Amino acid sequence: EKSGYKHFMAKEIAEQPVVLADAQAHYIKDGNITLPVDLDFSAFDRVTMVACGTAYLACLTAKYWFEQIARIPVEVDIASEFRYREPPVPARTLAIFVSQSGETADTLAALHYAKSQGATILSVVNVTESSMARDSDMSLPILAGVEVSVASTKAFTCQLSLLLLLALKASSDRGAQSTEQVQSYLAHLQKTPALVSQSLNVGDAVKEAAKLVAEAQDILFLGRGAMFPLALEGALKLKELSYIHAEGYASGELKHGPIALIDKHVPVVVMAPRDALFEKTISNMQEVMARGGKVLLISDAAGIAEAGQGVWSTITMPEIEPVFAPILYAIPAQLLAYHTAIAKGTDVDQPRNLAKSVTVE
Ligand code: M6R
Repeated sequence: EKSGYKHFMAKEIAEQPVVLADAQAHYIKDGNITLPVDLDFSAFDRVTMVACGTAYLACLTAKYWFEQIARIPVEVDIASEFRYREPPVPARTLAIFVSQSGETADTLAALHYAKSQGATILSVVNVTESSMARDSDMSLPILAGVEVSVASTKAFTCQLSLLLLLALKASSDRGAQSTEQVQSYLAHLQKTPALVSQSLNVGDAVKEAAKLVAEAQDILFLGRGAMFPLALEGALKLKELSYIHAEGYASGELKHGPIALIDKHVPVVVMAPRDALFEKTISNMQEVMARGGKVLLISDAAGIAEAGQGVWSTITMPEIEPVFAPILYAIPAQLLAYHTAIAKGTDVDQPRNLAKSVTVE
């Protein structure tokens, strides 16, 4: 049921504030994290995260959180690489497998490999009656509700929200942050659904930008820190939906090659919440502009006031504590792909060549 929306994707984007709030209410009670599984991060020295596609990008984002908030080393792998590389899995490894469907063939095979190596297996899934949930030691639902559109949207933000919660749990279990700090993070996390709701208002600005983006042959997305995986996600969504060639790069990598691609025909989407790396990202953005690149700057009002002069277009986001920015900045990435697909007349919910669940390798 599309409930009045033109596409499932539009409906699922719009549902995010509600599903995020419901999922958080399920896992946070009276300001404390309550998991339905017996998971104690002090039993582990390292975390390995494995997934495909957008779920993999949720893992890449979570690596920043686990490392920065809980000070636990994290490796992230693409499932199709992990399963055939057969990496050594040291004792005291928690292996986390993230999948909307819980049926992705490569992720499931990677899970079976990690299990055979003696790792403790946690799956983070949307479909609870799935092979991954069944074959894990522990499984946590992201509680996004049914996702129909091939492009993953609400599952991504719900994966991020739950993985951030797990990073906070890890931090408590390992004593990496004080109880007060963890509680203040939790309070901020609980504000994200309202901010996501506010950020859905950028739709009109994104629609305008999408008209121009739809004309491009190539697009780059740039971000630093936890916004780097978001740049990858923005590029993946745009490729899937509009068939425009898009690449995400860590801003600092620009001058190591990709800057050669910049000319006036290549829009560059810069994802720049005002975090500790804002100035660095902006200086990369200026290098792009100096070479004639057309910049679409996504930041908050103060960020745009500070750095928006001379850019091609801007999208103004609500202000947010930097740690939580990836959850919020997923919204303009999704909307840009959606509106560009509309402008190009491609099939939004069922893009060519793609399947919702990839159960063959
Ligand atoms: O069901 P899964 O989360 O395991 O699926 C993984 C990928 O196939 C999936 O995220 C894919 O990249 C999406 N179409 C992205 O929008």
